[in-house]
Amino acid sequence: MKRPIFPPRVEGTASRQAHADLPEGTYEREISKEGFFGPAAFFHHRHPPTGWVAFEGPLRPHAFDLNKPARDHGSPWQAPEILRNAHVRIRYWRPATSMDHLARNADGDDLLFVHKGGGEFHCDYGHLALAAGDYVVIPRGTMWRVELRDPLAALMIEATNGSYSLPEKGLLGGHAIFDPAMLDVPAMDAAFVAQQSEERSWQVRVKRNNAVSTVTYPFNPLDATGWHGDLSVVRVNVKDLRPIVSHRYHLPPSAHTTFVGQRFVVCTFVPRPFETDPGALKVPFFHNNDDYDEVIFYHAGNFFSRDNIGPGMMTLHPCGFTHGPHPKALKNMLVQPKPATDEYAVMIDARDALEITDAAKEVEWAGYVDSWKDPK
Ligand SMILES: [Fe+2]
Repeated sequence: MKRPIFPPRVEGTASRQAHADLPEGTYEREISKEGFFGPAAFFHHRHPPTGWVAFEGPLRPHAFDLNKPARDHGSPWQAPEILRNAHVRIRYWRPATSMDHLARNADGDDLLFVHKGGGEFHCDYGHLALAAGDYVVIPRGTMWRVELRDPLAALMIEATNGSYSLPEKGLLGGHAIFDPAMLDVPAMDAAFVAQQSEERSWQVRVKRNNAVSTVTYPFNPLDATGWHGDLSVVRVNVKDLRPIVSHRYHLPPSAHTTFVGQRFVVCTFVPRPFETDPGALKVPFFHNNDDYDEVIFYHAGNFFSRDNIGPGMMTLHPCGFTHGPHPKALKNMLVQPKPATDEYAVMIDARDALEITDAAKEVEWAGYVDSWKDPK
């Protein structure tokens, strides 16, 4: 058993309860270990900690507008990488046409998040109809393709040399946030059987060490007649997530963890009622994200704590960068005009520093670091 090095203490004029009953006229900033799981300290500042007038150097935050690149990536392995490290690679895939081949990832599990559009997903395990808001976990080694119904835009989050699992739900019990019984699996249905045509040859493009090999078959290799086992593609839609809330306490982002990789986690923000206790914070507290690089992809709705960020955009707050609500949102720190948030967003928290690719730099909004300046 590890024990923290320092016992809880209160110094000066301070609240004893995190995220609530702040001394009048102060702003709370948290320094914490292990995301929001570990030991933490909460400071009460006279000024918002994002009140800088200049900010230089590699710790600057980034915002990318992923709506910008043209649609032409018929293969997921041609989709541009946006951010990457040794444990996670984040691509943004916008195919203009249905896939005329099968893809297979030998580098790790993929998590597909459908931002827009939909189609028929055919894989070793059968057929799934994809819609916006779907998370699809594709185990490493699965052959798959998508037949477009509507133009697709999807985030692809690769657990490089790793796999996905569900988070430990602890005292909440295993059926909270979403019941594992809500996970859909592909069906060997009429649509799957119909695509098992012998009329043409098929390529399988296999990615290993980020290099693609092409295997050609004179038949369609998605020709299984059935399967059994305890491994499969699974799907859950963000509309089926039931977020944890407290009416008296602003829960940290870790309460919204949806999938766990190795040295990164994926969390989902979905609409939830605001806190109603008069002293409870109604916006995120200021913090430095001290153990993780934090990525948020904005899917739909109004992003209540950020200004000038719209659907299809992605932000990166490097570990150590102090952030919190934008000035407009901060004005609603204790009183919100609406009863609930109206936002869907995917957060990826990575333990190791993420590299920003050239494709991301091309669509970067350079003014993001100045967006915390109060327009008054
Ligand atoms: Fe953060």
